[in-house]
Amino acid sequence: MIEVQHVCKTFRQFRAVWDLTFRIGPGDIFGFVGPNGAGKTTTMRMMATLLDPDYGDITIDGISVLDEPETIRRLIGYMPDYVGVYEGVEIREYLEFFAAAYRIPVEKRKKLVDEIMEITDLSGVATKDVGTLSKGMRQRLCLAKTLVHDPKVLILDEPAAGLDPRARIELRLLLKELQKLGKTIIISSHILTELSDMCNSVGIIERGIMLKAGRIDDILAERSAGELSQQKLLLRVLGRPDDAVTILRGLPDVGGVEIDRGIITFNFMQPIESNPGLLRELLQRGVPVVSIAPATQNLEDIFLNVTKGIIA
Ligand SMILES: Nc1ncnc2c1ncn2[C@@H]1O[C@H](COP(=O)(O)OP(=O)(O)OP(=O)(O)O)[C@@H](O)[C@H]1O
Ligand SMILES: [Mg+2]
Repeated sequence: MIEVQHVCKTFRQFRAVWDLTFRIGPGDIFGFVGPNGAGKTTTMRMMATLLDPDYGDITIDGISVLDEPETIRRLIGYMPDYVGVYEGVEIREYLEFFAAAYRIPVEKRKKLVDEIMEITDLSGVATKDVGTLSKGMRQRLCLAKTLVHDPKVLILDEPAAGLDPRARIELRLLLKELQKLGKTIIISSHILTELSDMCNSVGIIERGIMLKAGRIDDILAERSAGELSQQKLLLRVLGRPDDAVTILRGLPDVGGVEIDRGIITFNFMQPIESNPGLLRELLQRGVPVVSIAPATQNLEDIFLNVTKGIIA
């Protein structure tokens, strides 16, 4: 749905985004994660045709942002990281105003705005002054505004910033709802945990360079497939684990042995095929093994592995 190809953007001498290449599939919720100054907003602004790449191209639904920016603008809804709203206007009026700006015929406007307020859970506050809204409501209103022209793609820059846990859960449900309606969604944050339960794919960017991108399932599978020269394993034994720890520490290719709440974790510098040999070895030495299994990697581990926490 979205193809980013070798995109570069420089501000004077500063490389904000460098040779960025990744794709987002139709119907994906793509989490764009990186520390402050990583280049997320710059990339999203290029997707939204508000900024031209110096090099490379971005296509949405096969259409280039450079060749047909007007068409792209009809395809996308962009929610910037900072949004000001006018005061003295009611929510309904505000949304109807944007519907008019998008040339939605008068007779269709009311129904459309009703539907959008329903999806974004604003119906109950339709007559509230937009200047008096709480942060969470304001975020919802801004999202509602991006929905007015029924875009296929939503580009949301930090929509969860500043939301309380409940509002974040509501945002997640809302995004899932929009995904069901067939929309492709890209959402940025500098906090991975804010996104990990909302997205099915992710891109981790740092200092303008994409460190890792793809479907979360694929990334997790790839990392636990045993191609790694080092794997993290969990060992459970009957009774006290101390003897097992001593034995483990004496084995070749074993390192970082620790006990955490009765479970032994350690690094094994061998591919997964060597695990049966390790198990045999432990049993022969009299370790009462209950189970031995690879520690499952989560998104957080991957994030820590691929980023170095550098802030530009
Ligand atoms: N108009 C501009 N002129 C000069 N430098 C800019 C401009 N816009 C962005 N930059 C620089 O490009 C880099 C990337 O900025 P960007 O806003 O894309 O980061 P970000 O990942 O969105 O960060 P944040 O999490 O803080 O929103 C930063 O170092 C920023 O200072
Ligand atoms: Mg930003």
